Amino acid sequence: MALQLGDTVPDFTQETSEGTISFHEWAGDSWVVLFSHPADYTPVCTTELGTVASLKPEFDKRNVKILALSVDSVDSHKGWINDINETQNTNVNYPIIADPDRKVADLYGMIHPNSLNNLTVRSVFIIDPNKKLRLTLTYPASTGRNFDEILRVIDSLQLTDYHQVATPANWKDGDDCVVVPSISTEEAKQKFPKGVTEVKPYLRMTPQPNK
Ligand code: BEZ
Repeated sequence: MALQLGDTVPDFTQETSEGTISFHEWAGDSWVVLFSHPADYTPVCTTELGTVASLKPEFDKRNVKILALSVDSVDSHKGWINDINETQNTNVNYPIIADPDRKVADLYGMIHPNSLNNLTVRSVFIIDPNKKLRLTLTYPASTGRNFDEILRVIDSLQLTDYHQVATPANWKDGDDCVVVPSISTEEAKQKFPKGVTEVKPYLRMTPQPNK
């Protein structure tokens, strides 16, 4: 059965461009973004990996480790990383899993044979420090992902975990947040000293608590 939100994600031990990793141990107390690519030396993937490398400080700030996957070998990854660094003017500073036998791809359901035969589609998994799956995204091979959106989701998930607020449609960092339904308006007024606006009894807004 496909992985679902809230599931504990499968562990694995696998070669990467930065040595062998045992996934759960490597993740430690961090959040993780695990994302797959159809193959090495492909154009859209090259731009994606470069973009993520340049955003690495933003992921670090949020205690997020990055882990890419492509079904080719470690040697192939190392050659491709040189090209990514050269063409995207960056320094790929996170591991890329080698998965020539599709072991991890199959564990995580990254191969969608009716879309792309025997290659991984563009899957994204956001995993929390308890190894629980918190978000999945699946994009076709021809569409590069929006990594600003992935950072935005991480901000939203962390606001919920650490401050008990949710985020409304098109929320961006600094915008007002939604008080989660499990908190009463009276409790919310105590908890959020910046103020609570009750638009409806079920729709309560508060300024972003960590700003
Ligand atoms: C790419 O990464 O550019 C790509 C890979 C497979 C199919 C289409 C595009």
